[in-house]
Formats: sequence, C-alpha cells, structure tokens
Amino acid sequence: MAKLKAPANRLKRSGDVIPASPSQRRSYRLAAIGGDGIGPEVLAQALLCIDDLAALFGFEVNTSVFELGAEHYLRTGELVTDEVLAELARHDAILIGAVGDPRVEPGVLERGLILRIRTEFTQSVNVRPAQLFHGIDSVVKDMSPERCDLVIVRENTEGLYASGGFFSHEGTPWATAMQLSLNTKPAISATVEFAFQLAQQRRKHLTLCHKTNILIEAGRLWSETVNEIGERYPDVRHDYVHADACSVHLLERPEIFDVIVTDNLFGDLLSDLAAVIQGGMGLAPSANLNLTGSGPSMFEPIHGSAPDIAGTGGANPAGAIFAAAMCLSHLGEREAARALEMATIRVLQGLPAMRGPKMGCTTNAVGERIRGEIAKQARDGVAAVHEAAPGTFRSRTDLSVGRG
Ligand code: IPM
Ligand code: MN
Repeated sequence: MAKLKAPANRLKRSGDVIPASPSQRRSYRLAAIGGDGIGPEVLAQALLCIDDLAALFGFEVNTSVFELGAEHYLRTGELVTDEVLAELARHDAILIGAVGDPRVEPGVLERGLILRIRTEFTQSVNVRPAQLFHGIDSVVKDMSPERCDLVIVRENTEGLYASGGFFSHEGTPWATAMQLSLNTKPAISATVEFAFQLAQQRRKHLTLCHKTNILIEAGRLWSETVNEIGERYPDVRHDYVHADACSVHLLERPEIFDVIVTDNLFGDLLSDLAAVIQGGMGLAPSANLNLTGSGPSMFEPIHGSAPDIAGTGGANPAGAIFAAAMCLSHLGEREAARALEMATIRVLQGLPAMRGPKMGCTTNAVGERIRGEIAKQARDGVAAVHEAAPGTFRSRTDLSVGRG
C-alpha cells in the first residue's frame, strides 16, 4: 500500500471528505496516552469505539500506546523526553485520558506532560464545546438544550500557564512568590482568529472574556486584538464580558453566549463551570489544536484523573469518547465522528446518573452500550436513528475550522 501523505497536506481545505478508494485507504496514526487515575479506563473505551468505527466506515487507525504519566515518572524519573516528543510528532493526532496523581507533587505531571505537549506542538487553542443535549440533566434548574450551546475557545500556551515567576525567602516569614502572565500578540491573534472563524460558522457572535478592569496590560492587548481582527469579520458581532460576570452569566443565562474567547486560566475555570451546566465534567471533551499543521493536535476529556474513583468503574467514559469524536472529525472522518457522538448521546440519555454507582453501569459497560448503538446505526442507518429521536442531535464536535 502506498504511503499516505502527512495529514497536514491531506486536510488542507476545511470540509474535505476524503473519498475511500481501494487503492488509497484512509489511514491514520493515533498516539494514545492513558495517563493517570481514570485516564486509562476512559481512554480504553474511546479506543474501542474508534476501532469499531474504522471497520464500519472503511478507514484504518494505527494506534501506538504511550505509557506516560505518574507510574512511568515514578519508575524512571522521566516525563516527556525529546525522543518521546519526536515519536509523538510522527502521529496524526494524540488522544489522552487524564493526568495527575497524588503521589507526585502538584504541577510536575501537569506541566511536564500536558503543558509540554501543548506548547511543543504549538497547540494554540483549546476548544471546549458546552452543549446540553435533550434528555440529559443540568445541575442548573430549568436549563434547556435551547439555552446551552456554546464553545469556549481558550488560549492554550500562555497567560499564567507560561510559568514565568520566582520564589524567594523560602521558609522565612518574608516568603515571596511572583507568577507572571505571558501574553503575546501572535498567540492571542491565533486564538482570536480561530474564535472568529468558529463564530462565523455558528451564530455569529463572539464574546471576549477577560478582566480588563484589573489586568489592564494583558486586557488591552486582548481587546485591541479582538477589535482589529473583528474588522475582518463584519458579519460576526463581538462584545466583551468580565470573567467574574461571565461565570454568573454562564449559570443564569448561557443563551447569551455563542463563542467565548479567553485567556488560558479564565478558559480553564469557565470550561469546568460550563461542563457541569451541560451535564457534568464526565461528559465534556476538548481539542488542543495545532492550527498550522506543524505538529499533531491533541484531544482529551476536560476532567481530571479522579484518583478517588479510579478502578471502581464509576467513571463515565463519555468525555473521552466525545474527545475521540472531535479527533475523528479533525482527521476528516466526519461521518464517523457524528455517528460516535450520536451513539454516545443516545446512551447517556438512558443513564440514571452521569457518574459513580448511581450511573447504573460501569465505565466499560457504558462503552459497550455506545458500541452497541454504533452497530445499530450501521444496521438501521444513521438517518433512521436520528428520525426516531428528533431534536436530539446537533453536532458539537464537528469543527471544520482549524484543521491544518
Ligand atoms: C485542563 C486541565 C489542565 C489545565 C491540567 C491537567 C494541566 O485542568 O485541561 O483543563 O489546567 O489546563
Ligand atoms: Mn481544567
């Protein structure tokens, strides 16, 4: 079989669907990192779904598993070495479970693994859809799917995450810590440009979220950039909200938002909040996108490693599975992505709770049910399943912008 070109070349135009032909089977190299806690469990279910979809939709996925995370670190002292990075770079996409372990000092795994990958592969934006689906409960009383359908576009490599700072007088009464926020025009521009493109495909409304009343230097650069880039998107309305007010609006009136663009830390906080509004942390996916094709993008559930429930079967694999759907969509397998997303929603609609013993079945059983739904769709046709349950499906993972 002829060797296929790198995905950056294959997926040049957004919206491309690569035709199947016997001589050129669509084939992808996927790097899988289980990580810590519930990470490997939820990721395993996502990978099984991808295998089934590949068989049904006629593509091929070659998955390499990378044993990275706390166990590997405690054994070898290594996080992500340059060699591992070079190996990851040879993949079309990365799917990751979760990272973080109480045996390792806070920050070591997070910075050394996830942040390293995000920055080394210039995964400039982190895309976090928050959409409540019919039949799924929100923690917010009287929330409805019509009112909660937004995407948080988070700058992914800078801000307070860029690690600048110092600590002095350690162990004395004068102990002093300083943590700096990095904000560069190129990174902000890339994020804002992506957010405008996304808004243009959606309801044409972009909201910048910041704290321009306090973080005046960074805030000015963000505001200026949004105003400048906004000139080129006259059909997209844009406005501004302070981050503290934004958290209240998300709870009380999420319908005022379409695309929210924000910095790294605000995006981290607000996306957890948005996740619980749309049904729970266990159901929320994210995409760390490399926008230029210079390296692989990475897909992950937004939840953490939840060591307290690891191994109990109480984790919901839906976040990881929705992340797999975003990954497939990004690779160009949009039909498979839609099928996976729809199957997952159908199964979630039948669960009495979204995590823990009350979920009524285990992590693996949720995955099995989703694969059962995929098989059913293959038998009956996606359209038939959709028609049988009108109003249950609008894709949130089908982001055709930002594909290299
Ligand atoms: C997330 C996580 C990460 C972050 C951690 C694990 C580094 O909370 O993806 O939101 O803070 O970005
Ligand atoms: Mn987070």
